[in-house]
Amino acid sequence: TSTTVPEAPEDPLFSVMVAFRNDSSEKKIDLSIGAYRDNQEKVWILPVVKKATATTAMSPDYNHEYLPIIGLARFIKAAQRVCLGNSSDVIKDNRITSLQTISGTGALHLGALFLSKFYRPDGSNNTPTVYMSSPTWSNHPQIFKLAGLPTATYRYFNASTRSLDFDGMLTDLAAAPPKSIILLHACAHNPTGIDPNPRQWEQIATIMAERHHFAFFDSAYQGFASGSLDRDAIALRLFASYGLEMCIAQSFAKNCGIYGQRVGCFHFITSPATEADTLETVTRIGSQLTALQRACISNPPAYGAHVVSLILNTPDLFEEWEEDLRVMSGRIMHMRQQLRIKLEALGTPGSWHHITEQIGMFSYTGLTTDQCLQMREMHIYMPLNGRISMAGLNLKNLDYFVKSMDRVVRE
Ligand code: LMR
Repeated sequence: TSTTVPEAPEDPLFSVMVAFRNDSSEKKIDLSIGAYRDNQEKVWILPVVKKATATTAMSPDYNHEYLPIIGLARFIKAAQRVCLGNSSDVIKDNRITSLQTISGTGALHLGALFLSKFYRPDGSNNTPTVYMSSPTWSNHPQIFKLAGLPTATYRYFNASTRSLDFDGMLTDLAAAPPKSIILLHACAHNPTGIDPNPRQWEQIATIMAERHHFAFFDSAYQGFASGSLDRDAIALRLFASYGLEMCIAQSFAKNCGIYGQRVGCFHFITSPATEADTLETVTRIGSQLTALQRACISNPPAYGAHVVSLILNTPDLFEEWEEDLRVMSGRIMHMRQQLRIKLEALGTPGSWHHITEQIGMFSYTGLTTDQCLQMREMHIYMPLNGRISMAGLNLKNLDYFVKSMDRVVRE
């Protein structure tokens, strides 16, 4: 085998980050991976995370024992409330089974494996297709393919208007075979930064219900889009209120700034049923998810989950976390405004209103692959689809970025 293994292509996001690190220029700007930076270009350890890690639970005496296969129970319970809300019927009725995972990617992987093994909507042996937005996060197709699920796309982005192709999206969701799996971004769509509005989410949920599609939500940026955990969960809570069976891959990497700790959760939500039926269904599903988790990772990592659990379960810390989220999303929104103002002031050809209309960690600039490569020659690192991580911009490097962008657009 060693002579026949072909070389795999580089990851389109992490390879850019590596190239940035290898560049010794003082001018260099990293706009690749979605990781928050403060106005001084520094990694920002959330003040609330500092507080949580300073408590005794995190001292040198912290015990490094295994967690159960499903993870840390009090973290999982709190994570459910973060995405579904404190007064959620789903939680009240116990229509949810959740496992702690290796961040959002682990949750997507676990969910994909589970669906690949057990989701047989037409009673045959055919595995259903997973429909994902075009474009989507570059890791999505490979995660689902790895689990053996065929993938297809639905229209999402209208390149000429740089906005949501809502009609195209609805048409494609309606045309997908009944009971298809539909991957949706809960908020702050990656890479476009364009989300459906609340009314559009209702229309999407209605079509999904009519077609009996299965919603698979990726929720990696709750709190990052608007600064409010509740507002960023409207799609999740709306779908849950429709009583649809669905699942959620939830990440705390971005909203707690603990990327490398890999803290996430997978939630499977069942439709309303009698108490006994619900208990029986949730137990069966939970047992299979637990068996898959054991085979994949045995049990999830503990430290980060303890930190997040402390924040979610301590009212003072929770409030402080919400404040930290407002700081991060506020700075990103400010950068969007400044970027647009500066491009418009320079008279850079094109229209730039999409930069302030988009939300969340990313802006989909509209720069072409060639233009992105030219930006790289000027030490500006962004993936070749034209996405920039807004958090990589600050008041120090913004002028250089704008000038460079102006240059490549005019060339
Ligand atoms: C991103 O899209 O930049 C992040 O989700 C980081 C990653 O894992 O790709």
